[in-house]
Amino acid sequence: MSYPAQRGRRLRRTEGLRALARETRLSPDQLVAPLFVHQSEPARQPIASLPGQARLTPELAADEARALSALGVGSVLLFGIPARKDAEGSAAWDEQGPVPRAIRAIRRHAPQMVVWADVCLCEYTDHGHCGLLADGEVDNDATLPLLARAALAYAHAGADVVAPSDMMDGRVQALRAALDHAGLSRTAIVSYAVKYASAFFGPFREAAGSTPRLGDRRGYQMDSANVREALREAESDVAEGADAVIVKPGLPYLDVVRAVREALHVPLVAYQVSGEYAMIHAAAERGWIDLERAMVETVLGLRRAGADLVITYFARTLAERLAEARLALEEQR
Ligand code: PBG
Ligand code: ZN
Repeated sequence: MSYPAQRGRRLRRTEGLRALARETRLSPDQLVAPLFVHQSEPARQPIASLPGQARLTPELAADEARALSALGVGSVLLFGIPARKDAEGSAAWDEQGPVPRAIRAIRRHAPQMVVWADVCLCEYTDHGHCGLLADGEVDNDATLPLLARAALAYAHAGADVVAPSDMMDGRVQALRAALDHAGLSRTAIVSYAVKYASAFFGPFREAAGSTPRLGDRRGYQMDSANVREALREAESDVAEGADAVIVKPGLPYLDVVRAVREALHVPLVAYQVSGEYAMIHAAAERGWIDLERAMVETVLGLRRAGADLVITYFARTLAERLAEARLALEEQR
């Protein structure tokens, strides 16, 4: 036998051979598309820091959800931008606010779409923190009932999933108890169990106008240096009733995705956040990297690390490319 016996290149020669050796696949039903919903004029407001993304009215969000649904995208994740902000973020539980209205519109126009509503106060508070302020600090326990009120409003409107992103301790238990008490035991909780205090949320905060006026979020979001702590957070959220958990951001935390995957047995979601998306767009705009190849490679990386689902601003473009690739394959046959 001539050396070498193993030649890795044998299975890389053609697309057919590469496909039979492929270990991780991308499918649009694994993608979650974030949508920003507002209620002002003009109805569609492009977000400069997130190329291709826009703030949409509830009606436009429903149109977008229908287009995503036709492409096979499984879920949308809704963020609200209220007309008014106050100290406690009371617009978060307004039944006529952007998110409840969008949920009802999507329910009507895209009935197959799984609707997730982000639950947090930072888009709704005038100070930009994720909870109630007391003596300059976010008061954990006083925030819990407010988060529960917001979650109830979204569940009543018809959300399939509520996704608390505030990082208060005990909020999954508080949401589960409030939902069950209201007869909404079927509403699922997908918690942002592992959310790091990150530099990569910048474009989102610009889109939502939710940058804290004073201080930062390090008093409640996690320290980037920690992975054991991520396991404690994920385990306690599951014990409190989370149906699935999110790790966020994605790319700088692939080891965390892998560790949570191995430790827990609930669906795992990775969030490719606004800064990750903006960074790829910025480099591509300068001609330094290929946008679509970087899109596929990064989402594949998150899936390979162990994420079942990926929340990504690329959801629509990626689903379009996957549909085109499938069509091209069918035409060859
Ligand atoms: C709200 C929330 C944020 C993101 C998701 N939910 C902002 C933050 O914590 O500052 C960030 C998403 C992104 O950057 O794409 N708490
Ligand atoms: Zn928040």
